Amino acid sequence: MSHRPRVAVVGSLIVDLVFRADRRPGPGETFTGTDFGIYLGGKGFNQAIACRRLGAEVTLVGRVGQDHFGDMFLARLKDEGMTADHITRDEKTGTGIASPVVFPDGENSIIGVPRANRFLTPSDVDRARVAIASADILMLQLEVDPQASRHAAGLASSHGTTVMLDPAPVHLHVSIDDWPLDYLVPNEVEARILASGPDTTGFARRRVDAGLRAVVISEGRQGATIADAAGVRCVPAYRVKTVDSTGAGDAFRGGLAVSLAQGTDIDQAVRYAGACGALACTRVGAEPSMPAASEVTEFLRRTDEHSD
Ligand code: RIB
Repeated sequence: MSHRPRVAVVGSLIVDLVFRADRRPGPGETFTGTDFGIYLGGKGFNQAIACRRLGAEVTLVGRVGQDHFGDMFLARLKDEGMTADHITRDEKTGTGIASPVVFPDGENSIIGVPRANRFLTPSDVDRARVAIASADILMLQLEVDPQASRHAAGLASSHGTTVMLDPAPVHLHVSIDDWPLDYLVPNEVEARILASGPDTTGFARRRVDAGLRAVVISEGRQGATIADAAGVRCVPAYRVKTVDSTGAGDAFRGGLAVSLAQGTDIDQAVRYAGACGALACTRVGAEPSMPAASEVTEFLRRTDEHSD
């Protein structure tokens, strides 16, 4: 592919109030954590920033409140050289908020309240029609109103834009079976929910038989599983010292989308995505941990040298 990859993201913008603690407090318990930070996040924003830092031209479609947090997002998009033309300011509801708790081993659990993200509409998506239609790939997650995501998938697919869904968080009442998707990229927890049990490989195979180009299940330290017409195989993870895994899945999906948009085959693209996710684990916060293309290239060069 000769042009710069073009990525459209229809997704969430959420401010992360990050607590570091040894564990989550139990019911009725007050527990003292070890650190705190405020970072910009949300799976949509993180994935958009990930793609941008990997060299793509990126359009993000989303909704924030008319508050200080919303201003912070618009300023950061500008700093990253991205347009905020498709970020709507909701008049009634504030910007989305989440509270990731990061444990000493770098793993996290997150509780989030979507707020303005919940009110993203199909009309908001339609205003970005040109960007979506001319993108190589559209990235979706489920932190905005699923009707807006479903509408974006239909719009993209009718213009030949590849559609990738990160089904997070899974909505049990929303079926994605008839969404026009090319790639489904759950993590292992979401894959088990979608599979209604532990047979995630069987689930992935069935989705490929039903028409998906591939299902890629990201499995953290275990790596990733790819299912496509060629079969099912595992790609091991790169070993790093995890400081904070928040946003690592978004870095993975950004790397995957940009690689696929460049015409890279799926096995190579998943390896590249794994390097992006691994690098993100070595840094604190979601958006600050999205690596630049040069960092990923250097990481892969060093890793290859050591495996010789
Ligand atoms: O994937 C990580 C993101 O999920 C965090 O930035 C948080 O906002 C939640 O949406």
